Amino acid sequence: MNCCVVGLQWGDEGKGKVVDILAEDSDIVVRYSGGANAGHTVVVGDDRFALHLLPSGVVRPNVKCVIANAVVVDPEVLTGEIEALADKGITLNERLLISENAHLVLDYHKQEDRLREEALGKHKLGTTVRGIGPCYADKVGRTFTMRMADLAELDELRAKLKAIVEYKNKVFGAVYGAEPISADEIFDKCRSYAEKLLPLMADTTEFLHKSLADGRSILFEGAQGSLLDLDHGTFPFVTSSNSSALGMSAGCGVSARMVDRFLGVAKAYTTRVGSGPFPSEQDNDVGQYIRDRGHEYGTTTGRPRRCGWFDAVAVSYAVTIGAIDSIALMHLDTLSGLKELQICREYQIDGRSTSFFPANLRRLAQARCVYETVGGWDEEITEVSSFHDLPLNARNYVVLIEEMTKRPVTMIGVGPRRNQVISR
Ligand code: GDP
Ligand code: IMO
Ligand code: MG
Repeated sequence: MNCCVVGLQWGDEGKGKVVDILAEDSDIVVRYSGGANAGHTVVVGDDRFALHLLPSGVVRPNVKCVIANAVVVDPEVLTGEIEALADKGITLNERLLISENAHLVLDYHKQEDRLREEALGKHKLGTTVRGIGPCYADKVGRTFTMRMADLAELDELRAKLKAIVEYKNKVFGAVYGAEPISADEIFDKCRSYAEKLLPLMADTTEFLHKSLADGRSILFEGAQGSLLDLDHGTFPFVTSSNSSALGMSAGCGVSARMVDRFLGVAKAYTTRVGSGPFPSEQDNDVGQYIRDRGHEYGTTTGRPRRCGWFDAVAVSYAVTIGAIDSIALMHLDTLSGLKELQICREYQIDGRSTSFFPANLRRLAQARCVYETVGGWDEEITEVSSFHDLPLNARNYVVLIEEMTKRPVTMIGVGPRRNQVISR
């Protein structure tokens, strides 16, 4: 059984928790896109892991983990993460493989991300400033790029780095008046990354296909969310990779035909960090109530997340483009205590109603949500372990989401811990 877990909203849906749970029955977990902009939380007992580049299977000692080709690897973050886990007694020797083809996020990418966001001022994208956009841009541009495999050829890397940094300094100086950065400093860091990461470098495509041939079960871990997809999300307020289910094959070199099940993860409401349209946003007491109860602050940047009602139009779109089989609905517990709940069932745009999400900024900006209002529940549900023990209105809420998205909700999150989940 091979499964792909993907976010159905604007990220932070609880993918880390779902992957950790499913990893129990998987041999391999693969991160296939994005970079250290991701922040995936796994909570086991009193231990809380915030993972940015490492697949969320790392916490399970028997699971092999793969960072595949299309992940942009910030070696500083990755080595830091590996060391932090080692401090907690979790070692990754022999069970972490990093693609030799993965591109490296280096200091000049992070500098460019920051300079550009600062220059955009109130028009900024609200990126995580992790150098993601600049690194993917260099990758597509093909000239000034550095990949994992380059760490194995230090002499060549030094010369290449010199040329890249010379170019970047000229551009950043001319455009932003930025201070030059030092190629030698980056090279010294690369030498240390090489020592730590080269033993983990591999042909991950070959490894994955051999594993599939041997009948191993693989869990593919998406990063970000479908609505942040570069080609299918709310451009330009998106990330720079195909973060919907569509990015899985290209990201790791395994066809979607090899995947038995695509599991979409959604929150029982909606959140978004950074700029961009958000039709069901509740910039009011309801939004604040959700933010407080759900601890809705970014795992990577600590920014308060924008909060709003569940948007069935947006989620159905992600389900449709990703051919999602079933849904994991997280954070149902966060909604306890609200008298009434609303679910956006369609949009009104220019006086016309539509239930197909327009991934076109102008139309989306005009979208007004048409809500279905349902009764809430007061009970705390964090200890509930079976669907039938949920309050009636909570059950009705889940069933309504199933009706609107036309997909079964097979998993329900009732708290951050690994065991706070209801399986159906
Ligand atoms: P990811 O990026 O999709 O992995 O999600 P994040 O880790 O960025 O954000 C999800 C947050 O919600 C984390 O703090 C999780 O520990 C927490 N979480 C996950 N599932 C649930 C749930 O069902 N209920 C509650 N209360 N918290 C949850
Ligand atoms: P996980 O995997 C939520 C958002 C940023 C910004 C936009 C572009 O934890 O769900 P970028 O740094 O990628 O250029 O930023 O995308 N963003 C995320 N939002 N969760 C994430 O990852 C995100 N990764 C990027 O906030 O709006
Ligand atoms: Mg996150």
